[in-house]
Amino acid sequence: MPFPESFLDELLARSDIVDVVGSYVQLTKKSGANLFGLCPFHSEKTPSFSVSPEKQIYHCFGCGKGGSAINFIMEIENLNFPDAVHFLAKRAGLTVPEEDGRDQNRGKRTRMLELNRAAARFFYECLSKPEGERAVAYMRERGIAAATAKRFGLGCAPDSWNALTDAMTRAGYSASDLLDAGLVKRGKSGRGLYDTFRNRLMFPVIDVRGSVIGFSGRILGDGEPKYLNSPDTLVFTKGRNLFALNLAKKSKQGILILAEGNIDVVSLHQAGFDCAVASLGTSLTDEQARLMARYTKNVVLAYDSDTAGVKAARRAIDIFDKTGVAVKVLRMEGAKDPDEYIKKRGADAFRVLLEKSENDAEYLLLTARSKYDMETDEGRLGFLAEAAELLAAKNSPVEREVYGARAADYAGVSAEAVKNEVQRLIKKKAFADKKRKEREEAHPSRALQPSDKSLRYENAVSAAAEEGVIRLLVMDPSLLNEADITEEDFSSPFLGRLFSMLAEKSRGGAPVSLALLASELPPQEASQLTVLLRRPESPGNARQAMRDYIEKIKTERLKKSGAADLAEVSRRYREKKGLEDARYGK
Ligand code: GTP
Ligand code: MN
Repeated sequence: MPFPESFLDELLARSDIVDVVGSYVQLTKKSGANLFGLCPFHSEKTPSFSVSPEKQIYHCFGCGKGGSAINFIMEIENLNFPDAVHFLAKRAGLTVPEEDGRDQNRGKRTRMLELNRAAARFFYECLSKPEGERAVAYMRERGIAAATAKRFGLGCAPDSWNALTDAMTRAGYSASDLLDAGLVKRGKSGRGLYDTFRNRLMFPVIDVRGSVIGFSGRILGDGEPKYLNSPDTLVFTKGRNLFALNLAKKSKQGILILAEGNIDVVSLHQAGFDCAVASLGTSLTDEQARLMARYTKNVVLAYDSDTAGVKAARRAIDIFDKTGVAVKVLRMEGAKDPDEYIKKRGADAFRVLLEKSENDAEYLLLTARSKYDMETDEGRLGFLAEAAELLAAKNSPVEREVYGARAADYAGVSAEAVKNEVQRLIKKKAFADKKRKEREEAHPSRALQPSDKSLRYENAVSAAAEEGVIRLLVMDPSLLNEADITEEDFSSPFLGRLFSMLAEKSRGGAPVSLALLASELPPQEASQLTVLLRRPESPGNARQAMRDYIEKIKTERLKKSGAADLAEVSRRYREKKGLEDARYGK
């Protein structure tokens, strides 16, 4: 642990879990002591993410993630432990004490962000130099104004193998700094380095905190590859970030527009739609959808109008559907993408499109309809089957009613017929869900098993008692007196280690800080701690309960060593018998 415990204690005390989590998740009070919200770590529509102000921990009943404010920041900001500590310390206005054994990664991270910023400045400055002329001309051709370029921090990579490398080397960055950040590549011979981005229009990717985390470079004109992106690095994961979210999060429009291309986003902002973002050259991920859901509940898809765009839109609808975000889809006619549309028809026409964009059900019905030949019975049946499937996935009965009627209309059948088919599918799905639940409930020890495979309990009977010991110690540290066992008596190494940590911390007799305990555990273990603490424990006869648990653990341990003894006896027996068999020539 690189930080003194007293400091972490102070940090946690000044980082109230409700405030920390509250700046990412909208929390509401249902009943009881806890607050609830939509889990930021998995997609859901009804809140199962709980925060306990009293225990200063969070726990999701859906995905099982949990821990302290530090664990939360690590998970949501994708930071390691020391970085999360620094992040919270900055927020709380605390100075982090000198770390013994300075964390390597942290230094690396900060340095990489500095390098990226320096590189972005270099690219930007190139625009006003002779080597930037082509890029400036290209921007003019694409209608990107100087003010827009400045707002996005656009720049240009000169047509050179080493312009950036030389400039950054002069600024004090080493070859490995540049390689790690993906800004240079190693030549075939393995020795020389060359600039990754050459002769390209550069789009810095800036995260919501304002750090330059990577780059996208578009070729100036036609050529392959059209776009080149930074590789994933210590500070950049494409699937977890969105282009221009740093700007769009400040928009007052109340929605986010998701486009495909960087140029589309730049064009949209320039035309006044400052809420546009794009995924970074990958298809939309769950994480990106949840990231957007933090800023809005209404997303408009403005994908390209080609078949690839339509396919991507359908996929995106499914992804947003899981996050509880309402999706509308913009249908552009006579233009391949938002950039072209705005150039041809102007911003006002785009605003009209935006206003009449279809909600997802409408859009899905229309795209399904366009796939079939509705003049034939076969086509109509195919369409109806697909329509019923997508309507059955809708939670709202009103939506099912309205769009069911529309689907019936398209196919020329009665609304009743569509409704019946949708009901049949819903029942089928409910039945399958029920069966699955029953199967799960038939195996309670399976329910006890941690979802993280590395923590699997070898002996579920003992582990149940071991978890009980942990719960009781958290409830009342003085019960340690009853627990005459050691870490080695535990069948699960994880629970054994928890026991030792708790024993150590409760030695003074003061109540143990769960938040501190969770902070000192790796993410999967912190989560599992919050899971096991959720199981009921009655405080009524805690002392007796502790004795019973200890007894159980010891019995199980004896059984195991007994089994080991037996195995040994039988091995000796077989060995001896083997000898005798040999002697009698069998
Ligand atoms: P224009 O053709 O100039 O309008 O480009 P655009 O910015 O609209 O991009 P386009 O619609 O062609 O592509 C959408 C997104 O896909 C781009 O912004 C990139 O993120 C990504 N992309 C496109 N081409 C490539 C490529 O060749 N390589 C990679 N890695 N990503 C690409
Ligand atoms: Mn485009």
